[in-house]
Amino acid sequence: MPVHNLSTANLINSLPKAELHLHIEGTLEPELMMALAAKHQVTLPYSTIDDVRLAYNFDNLQSFLDLYYLGASVLRDEDDFYRLMWDYLCKCKEENVVHVEMMFDPQTHTERGIDFAVFMAGFTRAMAQAEKEWGQSSLLIMSFLRHLSERNAFDTLTAAAPYLPMITAVGLDSSELGNPPEKFTRVFAKAKELGLMRVAHAGEEGPPEYIWSALHDLDVHRIDHGVRSVEDGALMKELVSRQMPLTVCPLSNIKLCVFDHMNEHNLLTLLEHGLMVTVNADDPSYFGGYLNDNYHALAAHLPINKQHIKTLASNSFKASFLSEEKKSHWLNQISNFDAD
Ligand code: HPA
Ligand code: ZN
Repeated sequence: MPVHNLSTANLINSLPKAELHLHIEGTLEPELMMALAAKHQVTLPYSTIDDVRLAYNFDNLQSFLDLYYLGASVLRDEDDFYRLMWDYLCKCKEENVVHVEMMFDPQTHTERGIDFAVFMAGFTRAMAQAEKEWGQSSLLIMSFLRHLSERNAFDTLTAAAPYLPMITAVGLDSSELGNPPEKFTRVFAKAKELGLMRVAHAGEEGPPEYIWSALHDLDVHRIDHGVRSVEDGALMKELVSRQMPLTVCPLSNIKLCVFDHMNEHNLLTLLEHGLMVTVNADDPSYFGGYLNDNYHALAAHLPINKQHIKTLASNSFKASFLSEEKKSHWLNQISNFDAD
């Protein structure tokens, strides 16, 4: 029997939710960036925190990635990675994000001479503390940078060997156009052999063919973004029949000009076609909002009702790597919220 009867805004805030598409390096807030730049004497092209925010005006994915890699350059020691992770997990607590599957980009750090031992220790210390303090559930997805070579990805997988017990899945991110999923077919096959789950960014800026390639060549469990699937009817059918999750990131799509305005976003179209759509924040400090802000932005600009919100929250658990038992637990909790 429903026990909670809330406004749409309260429903969004109160529902337990999972977040499945979140780059931990994309949660670096300007305040922490400036503090760490001072700590390590890193020179950034910003004088004030306002300067940083003003610079976050992007034309496309690449213009964002340039600043994202620049920002990540202030992350140097174990404590920096701990602090980054801790701040984000505190945000999860505040927003009822009870489970999170986070991407991290090892090559962004190893290319600067920072070893797996440094960032893995910082990340896992914060994750263990959040779990102990309030039962926060979280896991890690190691993402390969697709603008780098297959060889570099293989070397990264090798370097990750001692840490694989702490890593659930591999992913694929960075500059999409010109770097199709099939470039990493053999790396993903090796990851599968090692028992890792698989996700890949596809169909954010890239064409539907990249989504087909992620399905066929990388054998993924989820597509990150995937909003360009609407351009291919056969692909839509395939995604529906597989109930292949799409991890859609509304504020990211607006900031990176994938859609001009939130009222033109196709999330509701995808959902109403029967796709397994989820809502996510991607890189919240760069795109202007954490998970609940993404739900609120959708509710403000699209004809979304409470049932849609409940479906999106339920999908976030269904599409996760949680056990069936944990999925049932959270789906039950969601069913107790009233959608009338
Ligand atoms: N797309 C591709 N690569 C990324 C993104 C994204 O949205 N965020 C961080 N790396
Ligand atoms: Zn992303």
